[in-house]
Amino acid sequence: MYEKFYDQLEKLGIVPVVVLEKVEDAEPMAHALMHAGMRSAEVTFRTACAAECIAAMRAAEPEMCVGAGTVLNNEQADRAIDAGAQFIVSPGYSEDVVSHCIELNVPVLPGCVTPSDITAAIAHGLHVTKFFPAAQYGGLATIKALAAPFVGHRFMPTGGVSTANVEEYLSCPAIAACGGTWMVKPALFADGDFSRVEQTAREAMDVVRKVRG
Ligand code: 3PG
Repeated sequence: MYEKFYDQLEKLGIVPVVVLEKVEDAEPMAHALMHAGMRSAEVTFRTACAAECIAAMRAAEPEMCVGAGTVLNNEQADRAIDAGAQFIVSPGYSEDVVSHCIELNVPVLPGCVTPSDITAAIAHGLHVTKFFPAAQYGGLATIKALAAPFVGHRFMPTGGVSTANVEEYLSCPAIAACGGTWMVKPALFADGDFSRVEQTAREAMDVVRKVRG
């Protein structure tokens, strides 16, 4: 299940975690990321305009893979999917959200930090899960320890991933992709100029190319 999406994740390498307060920022954000070669975004449901932003990004950049993040329940998942979200990310493991997304055939990346979480995800046929908050749960050392018994299972760490450590994360075979906010921090585009987002995203993609070719 979801093999095509997992292949896509591997190619993307980095999925920026985008928190947008204004729908007007969605279109220039999508263009800046795509120009930098960063062809995806996880738009978080932490802000009221998340669904609208997903729709705006998909319309602005039809080739971009746009998903929804911080999805805590089925109602949010439905709103995200109706808006065009192509994948769903949750900070934790929700049996409800996972089952619902599988029923709808939409890829879902639940947050799994314990062996029990991962066992539950694997029981549903999931082979990649989010690992959040990565830094606080032991980062790469914990991921490597979890990868040993869960052979073939892979992770998308977010939380504390940055320019300082993304190369190390991406070099680990158990990492499908990394998530993070460092290239899309609100301070980078507060004045409406998205060139700093583009530049930071381009630098991040240089690391993906260096590690993964
Ligand atoms: C997430 O939602 O995945 C994290 O908040 C991203 O964490 P970061 O800001 O440390 O990249």
